[in-house]
Amino acid sequence: MIPLPPNAEILPDADAVAAAAAERLVALCESAPRSAIGVCLAGGSTPKRLYARLGAPDTRRRLPWNRLHWFFGDDRLVPWTDAASNVRMAREAFGDAPIPEGHLHGMDTHGTAEAGARAYAETLRAFYGASELDPARPLFDLVLLGLGEDGHTASLFPAKPALAERHAWTAPVPEAGLAPFVPRITLTVPALASARETLFLVTGAGKQEPLRRLARGEDLPARHVHSVGRLVWLVDREAAGA
Ligand code: 6PG
Repeated sequence: MIPLPPNAEILPDADAVAAAAAERLVALCESAPRSAIGVCLAGGSTPKRLYARLGAPDTRRRLPWNRLHWFFGDDRLVPWTDAASNVRMAREAFGDAPIPEGHLHGMDTHGTAEAGARAYAETLRAFYGASELDPARPLFDLVLLGLGEDGHTASLFPAKPALAERHAWTAPVPEAGLAPFVPRITLTVPALASARETLFLVTGAGKQEPLRRLARGEDLPARHVHSVGRLVWLVDREAAGA
């Protein structure tokens, strides 16, 4: 078995990872300190199971949808109708979940990455109600993240400038480090760190290599992510090589 990051939980399969993440969100909602609850969604394919589970009857009835606001950790600079759009992925995965109008906060991916990043930072500041992040009052109740095969997370790719950003809450990513090779918009390390709980969702044999590289101490982007709250890795047996 691959040595895993601290605070890693190994679960039988991808469905069990989604179920565990769903239960964590339910608990975070029950203990949420403010009326508005902010969740930062991961893109890519792994979280689809989780979003579908949240919108399905069993979990749907346990979530306070009128209090929940859904944000994105990153997106690709494509129209929201494009198959590569994280907004499209989330909308399709959530299905007919009762997300109130204006509670799914997609990034503006229709202009330049620079303009979209600036606009999304304003969106986040409007939700937060301040322009400086206070560790005692995290921006998000939950941040969901995936792990790319090159060790990236959100759209923080190895050796790209956005990874080093420690002041702005968002950053443009003119050159993605992995497919789809389109410009991106990403939240930065300080914004992703501002969470009561941060969950990495890692499933499938394809993630064994980045997990091995993290275990060897390689300075991969995912290693830069920390949290002012709890940071937990939910890893299935396939990814863990268990
Ligand atoms: C994106 C994601 C990205 C993703 C990883 C893992 O927009 O691509 O935010 O960081 O989480 O690349 O992707 P998979 O879940 O598809 O393996």
